[in-house]
Amino acid sequence: MAPSKVSVLGNAILFLSALAGAQEPDIPTLYPQSPPAYPPPIGTGDGIPEWSEAYSKAQAIVAQMTIAEKVNLTSGVGWEGEQCVGNTGSVPRLGIRGLCLQDSPLGIRFGQYSSAFPAGVTIASTWDDGLAYLRGYAMGMEHRGKGVDVQLGPVSGPLGLFPEGGRNWEGGGSDPYLSGIGLAAAVRGIQDAGVIACAKHYIANEQEHFRQAGESRIPVEESLSSNVDDRTMHEVYVWPFADAVRAGVGSIMCSYNQINNSYGCQNSELMNGILKNELGFPGFVMSDWQAQHAGVATALAGLDMAMPGDQVFVSGNAYWGSNLTVAVLNGSVPIWRLDDMATRIMASFYKVGLDKDRVDVNLASWTTDVYGWQHWFARENYGVINGNVDVRGAHATLIREVAAKGTVILKNNGSALPLQKPRQIAVFGSDATDNPKGPNGCPDRGCADGTVAMGWGSGTANFPYLISPLSALQNKAIADGTVIQWVVDDYSTIQMEHTATQASACLVFVKAQAGEGFITVDGNQGDRKNLTLWANGEEVIRTVASNCNNTIVTVHAPGPVTMEEWIDHPNVTAVLYAGLPGQESGNSIVDVLYGLVEPGRLPFTIAKNATDYGVSLMYEPNNSYAPQQNFTSGLLIDYRYFDKNNIEPRFEFGFGLSYTTWKYHDIVVRKINAGSYGAFNGRTPAAKTTNVTETPESLVFPAGFHQVHFYNYPWINNTGDVRKDGENGPEEAYDPNGAPIRPAGGAPGGNPGLYDILYEVNVTLSNVGKRNGEEVVQLYISQGEDDDPVRVLRGFRRVSVNAGQTINVIFTILRRDISRWDTVTQNWVISPAEKQVFVGRSSRDLPLVAKLNGENVIGINRNKPSTSWTAGMKTFM
Ligand SMILES: *[C@@H]1O[C@H](CO)[C@@H](O)[C@H](O)[C@H]1NC(C)=O
Ligand SMILES: *[C@@H]1O[C@H](CO)[C@@H](O)[C@H](O)[C@H]1NC(C)=O
Ligand SMILES: *[C@@H]1O[C@H](CO)[C@@H](O)[C@H](O)[C@H]1NC(C)=O
Ligand SMILES: *[C@@H]1O[C@H](CO)[C@@H](O)[C@H](O)[C@H]1NC(C)=O
Ligand SMILES: *[C@@H]1O[C@H](CO)[C@@H](O)[C@H](O)[C@H]1NC(C)=O
Ligand SMILES: *[C@@H]1O[C@H](CO)[C@@H](O)[C@H](O)[C@H]1NC(C)=O
Ligand SMILES: *[C@@H]1O[C@H](CO)[C@@H](O)[C@H](O)[C@H]1NC(C)=O
Ligand SMILES: *[C@@H]1O[C@H](CO)[C@@H](O)[C@H](O)[C@H]1NC(C)=O
Ligand SMILES: *[C@@H]1O[C@H](CO)[C@@H](O)[C@H](O)[C@H]1NC(C)=O
Ligand SMILES: *[C@@H]1O[C@H](CO)[C@@H](O)[C@H](O)[C@H]1NC(C)=O
Repeated sequence: MAPSKVSVLGNAILFLSALAGAQEPDIPTLYPQSPPAYPPPIGTGDGIPEWSEAYSKAQAIVAQMTIAEKVNLTSGVGWEGEQCVGNTGSVPRLGIRGLCLQDSPLGIRFGQYSSAFPAGVTIASTWDDGLAYLRGYAMGMEHRGKGVDVQLGPVSGPLGLFPEGGRNWEGGGSDPYLSGIGLAAAVRGIQDAGVIACAKHYIANEQEHFRQAGESRIPVEESLSSNVDDRTMHEVYVWPFADAVRAGVGSIMCSYNQINNSYGCQNSELMNGILKNELGFPGFVMSDWQAQHAGVATALAGLDMAMPGDQVFVSGNAYWGSNLTVAVLNGSVPIWRLDDMATRIMASFYKVGLDKDRVDVNLASWTTDVYGWQHWFARENYGVINGNVDVRGAHATLIREVAAKGTVILKNNGSALPLQKPRQIAVFGSDATDNPKGPNGCPDRGCADGTVAMGWGSGTANFPYLISPLSALQNKAIADGTVIQWVVDDYSTIQMEHTATQASACLVFVKAQAGEGFITVDGNQGDRKNLTLWANGEEVIRTVASNCNNTIVTVHAPGPVTMEEWIDHPNVTAVLYAGLPGQESGNSIVDVLYGLVEPGRLPFTIAKNATDYGVSLMYEPNNSYAPQQNFTSGLLIDYRYFDKNNIEPRFEFGFGLSYTTWKYHDIVVRKINAGSYGAFNGRTPAAKTTNVTETPESLVFPAGFHQVHFYNYPWINNTGDVRKDGENGPEEAYDPNGAPIRPAGGAPGGNPGLYDILYEVNVTLSNVGKRNGEEVVQLYISQGEDDDPVRVLRGFRRVSVNAGQTINVIFTILRRDISRWDTVTQNWVISPAEKQVFVGRSSRDLPLVAKLNGENVIGINRNKPSTSWTAGMKTFM
């Protein structure tokens, strides 16, 4: 980081205001700049049934804590200081061990005898919030069994603005509504299992390049700034986090990047303002690992927990810990802010029931050995650190089901699929087979050898096994009496040609891979450098298709790949997008290929050309100080950009074929009487302004205390460290009287009126095919103003319907669903433009349409031109 931007106040306190950069002559003037939002709101459980008991308990226990004990809860002990990837200090006097925080959003990173679940992009492709809940619950149970207190997931940032984005696959699809439903379901699942969920990364963390200045191969002084306007922030990026807060999420992780030229973990507008005031978030905010760049500034801006605790990994110093104690003693951080941090942490702790049935930590992140050092970096306290508790339960069945239901059939000509005991099949491509280095042979899965079943980076887990497509297909072939051959060397052209000519079905497996920016694979520094296939994929498809008139292509990839080179090849009879399926990969793809499971739908758009997305991930900095990434596409993420600009995608958002045939019939809209909506009136709680009574002397390390090497403690060495420098944040940050609650605030998730039901939409559909099936009924709304997207997703339901059966699907439309963010009143408003609701099979296949005009309406089926609008049916129902 740039020393010139940092002022050292007192002996040991950093303060970096959101605006400090502008005052330094040697720093370019950067626009835009995030506005300040102070004071930091005090968390409360008042009037929130799911939080009130947890808050009472938290307030009671925090009232008994000393400054050092409270600081301990907020401060990580340092990288590799304990067994989990993140560990806070403890409160031994009150019998509270430190919190164990563990990656990842798809299982237990570094776990043994634990499961490798399908990635976020695959659960999103199921469009099934029930399955998303079950997956969350199963992951939560596994974490809990290992003694993990906080699972570091689920993800909705990145949201997927850039199709190349390295970590998109960890999240839930490139639409805020879809992502929000998935995020909320995962939060409920994880927390019902007794583990605190962590919604991340807050926010606008859309690319890996330059997310951390220190990680960049091209030197920049500060991390990238994602410059996002207020309306886009609310309607796109904050939206899923609002759902997570409403679902009761206990923690949120602030991101590495800057947002409007203020770091995510010291951006007061985003933490104090939007998250804690407007969204009424009662839980705690933790930093991403070394995303904290200041001590006092982060505390005042709303950060509650510093991770992993040291300033950079094993630097031996910390912004908090001892430094936070000093800041509280000299008044730089008000004592009520420290109380609030500790209370928020303990409230989340009680909310998920960690005061009952808490399991001792029995996993080790830094070794697979049973014996090792508890304080790994310091090499202290040798003993059993890996309990190797098997926490997998019966989760394999769920994993297989999720990955199968999250596989999307993009093309299926004639009778290619489902396969029915073919005489001979041939399997092609290294993506069909095992990584010769083993399922966990590449650290943090940082390679693309063998079949790709998860991305790379911290969002991974160890595979307890990995069923490759080839091994599952062999089992199936043997059972069916099918002959099976294969060529898994992507460059053995002659063998592929020869093998392809013999088979009645040629199954080609191709791949792309992506991951976190700290690992570079084949020149891809986290973010993909292109949207084409890896490992000679196009050539493998071409070779096989030239010799086999029934070529079935399966793509394992973290997101979209371009398919134009081969998608229309007459011999390519079927194409499947199989995402990142996790440990049951092969079994899941067999289930889909053979028609045992109904497939999913795309959670993003597959373009004809990478340039069609209308966005450019920044690979070269546009500024050597802090790269500026203007989010100029605004609300038009993914399909919204294609729709607005009339660009024909190859496969649109929401697309996916089914094994049966669906017919949409009728749509009826019923108006529901809801109360009127207005600005919320109220104030955030006033702080309890107790004076600090503990003396600097009482906060010195206890006599004879053994300090673990490079470990972050709450105590001070020297009372001289505490200098009375007084207040050194903005004056408003110290105001104990709270602040007006923002107009759009008032409850977790925002103004309660936003969740009023305004309409009920009743649609009729039939399974007119010969097979029982599952359909994803999708509802989109057009808000009608010129500056609105053409349509936005506002409802979906995965339904199971038997052949020949007709059902009704009822959707509710909330006020939030038809509102837009008004930057002037800082609230959601319903614009005067005429609104319409569309229902159908994808973002571009929407036969049913009805007006949303404040009345009961019978809509039309555009596939049945004889019907017409019938509005104002007052007698209806
Ligand atoms: C803070 O946490 C550390 C590590 O768990 C522990 O050794 C120390 O006793 C704790 N300090 C206080 C004041 O509880
Ligand atoms: C306190 O912060 C200062 C400034 O970053 C740092 O130099 C010092 O090492 C920190 N102290 C501790 C004990 O980590
Ligand atoms: C795209 O990147 C992959 C992975 O690095 C590489 O294998 C492939 O050749 C690249 N495609 C093109 C067209 O350069
Ligand atoms: C399709 O496959 C057949 C072999 O079954 C081959 O003769 C033909 O040339 C292929 N078509 C194309 C366009 O490659
Ligand atoms: C594909 O090729 C096989 C011979 O390999 C032939 O029996 C079959 O009719 C062909 N199918 C089509 C659709 O051309
Ligand atoms: C994609 O679009 C760009 C810009 O319009 C064009 O230069 C390029 O040729 C296109 N690529 C393909 C594969 O069509
Ligand atoms: C980003 O937008 C700001 C206006 O907010 C403009 O001043 C700046 O030049 C833009 N930066 C880039 C790199 O386009
Ligand atoms: C805090 O201390 C000030 C003087 O330093 C005193 O006026 C005030 O009453 C004290 N407040 C409490 C709550 O004890
Ligand atoms: C206290 O002093 C020891 C020895 O000099 C040093 O290693 C440690 O970092 C200091 N701790 C704090 C909190 O200042
Ligand atoms: C939905 O419409 C059907 C008629 O198509 C009707 O039978 C059913 O009661 C309606 N359901 C609701 C909840 O209004």
